[in-house]
Amino acid sequence: EKGGYDHFMLKEIYEQPHAILDTYRGRLLADQGIIRMAGIDQHLEKFVNANRIIIVACGTSWHAGLVAEYIFEDLARVPVEVEYASEFRYRNPIITDKDVLIAISQSGETADTLAAIKLAKEKGAFVFGVCNVVGSSIARETHAGAYTHAGPEIGVASTKAFTTQITILTLMALKLGKEKGEFSESKFHEYLAELENIPAKVQIALESNPLIEIIADVYKDSSNCLYLGRGYNFPVALEGALKLKEISYIHAEGYPAAEMKHGPIALIDEQMPVIVIATNKGHYEKVVSNIQEIKSRKGKIIAIVTEGDEQVKELADHVVEIPETIESLTPLLTTIPLQLLSYHIAVMRNCNVDQPRNLAKSVTVE
Ligand code: F6R
Repeated sequence: EKGGYDHFMLKEIYEQPHAILDTYRGRLLADQGIIRMAGIDQHLEKFVNANRIIIVACGTSWHAGLVAEYIFEDLARVPVEVEYASEFRYRNPIITDKDVLIAISQSGETADTLAAIKLAKEKGAFVFGVCNVVGSSIARETHAGAYTHAGPEIGVASTKAFTTQITILTLMALKLGKEKGEFSESKFHEYLAELENIPAKVQIALESNPLIEIIADVYKDSSNCLYLGRGYNFPVALEGALKLKEISYIHAEGYPAAEMKHGPIALIDEQMPVIVIATNKGHYEKVVSNIQEIKSRKGKIIAIVTEGDEQVKELADHVVEIPETIESLTPLLTTIPLQLLSYHIAVMRNCNVDQPRNLAKSVTVE
């Protein structure tokens, strides 16, 4: 049932090109220049007239929500707040009937996310679900929604759920931005065409696997690890750190790269591996200077770069290349080597990759 893979997690990592395709199949009609999503089409005025979007989720799904915050604000020009469901529901939040709440959940059963939905509904918000499990409690409790269609995710560490959540949220942001007239027809078409290239580019990103195994072997005995990213890739840094800690039990932290100098830089010495996402768009030069700061403190640098990169290659101890893409789509690619890195380190440490200690696949307790 693991399809020849040693673990479900690895199988699910490798399923991502296909899973992403399944997510946009029938929705992304690039040649016609259309994104078709029934759950949005039927409630378009709710989205277009929303004063803001509130995203609630937990864990990896919360990280997908953070990526979505960048995408929705950038493409659809609507204010977004991303909340841990457990914090949101208990703090007497301000919710009105002009708010759209998007709940993201792979399992569709997370108790805190479900409770946040009920609260938002009581206060009159329109509630939209992004779930993977069909017919799950969250899918039933929301006014409308879109399934990710990633297929069953068995490994406790979430992988394909994350990239397919980002895919669906990108489709939503593009659709809304187009509807609101936030960008040109040509930019819209450029996005649709590039989204269609993503599965093949994820496939290429997966080819870094042998290199990642070598890197994993070097750092498998580390006791700490720092993940840095900026912009769209800051949430990816958080997700990379979560993957490592949950399956390998190595303490890891994700940080916005520029925040490093406000504290975490004190941790850096020759024992500290620092994984830096340094793709060529957005804040490249800024990330390069962050890498220089790490290097001058003798930290070990593992950089995720765009293919053809030269500047970071000069500085980093290890460089993993991913294909070039539009900046807002880079999380779909930069995530891949980080998933593989945590996987290999956990295997090398003899950890139970698919069922890490103390964790459950769906958290139905509050
Ligand atoms: C991380 C992980 C958890 C879940 C979280 C939310 O790999 O699996 O952090 O992401 O428990 O679960 P869902 O998405 O089912 O609501």
